[in-house]
Amino acid sequence: MTGNAPIGVFDSGVGGLSVARQFLRILPNEELLYFADTAHVPYGGRPLDEVRGFALPICDFLVANGAKMVVMACNISSAVALDAARLQHPDIPIIGVIAPGVQAALRQGARRIGVLATQGTVSSGAYTATAHRLDPTVNVVENACPRFVPLVEDGLSESADAIDAARTYLEPLSRASCDTIILGCTHYPFLINALTREAGDLFPADHQPRFVDPAGETVREAGVILADRAIAAPPSATPHHRYCTSGERAKFARQGPIFLGGPADDVIHVDLDSQERSYSLARLGRGVG
Ligand code: DGL
Repeated sequence: MTGNAPIGVFDSGVGGLSVARQFLRILPNEELLYFADTAHVPYGGRPLDEVRGFALPICDFLVANGAKMVVMACNISSAVALDAARLQHPDIPIIGVIAPGVQAALRQGARRIGVLATQGTVSSGAYTATAHRLDPTVNVVENACPRFVPLVEDGLSESADAIDAARTYLEPLSRASCDTIILGCTHYPFLINALTREAGDLFPADHQPRFVDPAGETVREAGVILADRAIAAPPSATPHHRYCTSGERAKFARQGPIFLGGPADDVIHVDLDSQERSYSLARLGRGVG
């Protein structure tokens, strides 16, 4: 495995681009191979076994196409598939976003953590379990937000509907006097304007919550692992990022640059439900580099 190999990053859709954009900022020499499972988005309301059944073949695909590391830029996948993926690929570092999110919150002094997440992540109990493993005395309140992901996927993050949903989902966290709110779904950082605006109204002025986006901490953790294993990209690397979508290629090609804040030129459709499980990007006409 060489430093020039890509880092595989995946999510159900555009949410993981909130993690990808931090890679571009913090580790700009690293090449990304991004997979958006937009044929199956949203994951959040699905049975946890079904989500695991999506996440593991995506890991296989990323590893088969040369990924030197896999980042589950998807909370629900991190909650239900991380252990199984690590067992399946013992030689590849695979990380999720939940532990980094909790670590970032605790480092900022959180005592009453609110978690906004999808129904599946909340049902898994992964945030509360992780927080209590790291600090048994911390309080955790989780709230499921089923309206959020479709709003982000449809480009409606700044809409009146998004603001109304933000208010609805923040109310229980305000009643619980949370000092810190973890964005426990990678789509939610794209709703930060609606969330901060409604928190400003709902929480007392002198007790405004801190919002934690796990993405930065996740990328820093990835950087430490790459350095430890001596597989970081060399400073001279000129990465060529590739974006795969199981859904409509043209839609992702339109959305990508908006969420990334930069170009997403190389977008390819990949159907992991087809018989061709051993999909290779090279066979699809794209060099793996
Ligand atoms: N963005 C994903 C997460 O972090 C999944 C959202 C969904 O598809 O429901 O959980």
